[in-house]
Amino acid sequence: MSKVRVLDKAFETSITKDEISNRIKELSKDINTAYADRNPLFLAILNGAFIFAADLYREITIPSEISFVKMASYEGTASTGVVNELIGLNQDISGRHIIIVEDIVDTGLTMKMMVDRLMAFHPASVSICALLQKPSKLQTDIKVDYVAFEIPDRFVIGYGLDYDQQGRNLKEIFSII
Ligand code: IMP
Repeated sequence: MSKVRVLDKAFETSITKDEISNRIKELSKDINTAYADRNPLFLAILNGAFIFAADLYREITIPSEISFVKMASYEGTASTGVVNELIGLNQDISGRHIIIVEDIVDTGLTMKMMVDRLMAFHPASVSICALLQKPSKLQTDIKVDYVAFEIPDRFVIGYGLDYDQQGRNLKEIFSII
């Protein structure tokens, strides 16, 4: 088990490179089977999912497309409060089978917002594929269809996930000590 320090915090290995790549192979096999002949559109959520999406997508062998989107939060008016906008979706998704690729589902609020936004464009279906989920933290009725790893409620970094924008380049997933 290795340890790293990122900014002011210490982390230790939680999920190794081999465990990640083996689990991605299993998940992608399931997706290849379930979505054969459906030409799914993978929508990877920036920034956190970029490494997971790149590895997952290289195991996808069926006709499919991938695109990268982002949820941007900004202060609206007093009545609207914080506004969450989906940016980067520049293609017609009506009638398409969408697979959202996310780094981690924590409370599930981000995914709920994302699914609500996408539904407005009338896709044929929307499912969620997450690298990590902290089931004990879930606050919404969102269903994560494909989860690589369920983890306890400890802050994690690496393999795309950050602590204050640092640590995304770590090859393993590390949890805070
Ligand atoms: P949710 O809306 O509460 O499900 O939060 C999802 C987002 O919070 C993820 O996309 C991450 O950007 C961030 N997040 C939640 N937990 C962690 C963590 O342990 N490490 C790094 N980012 C996290």
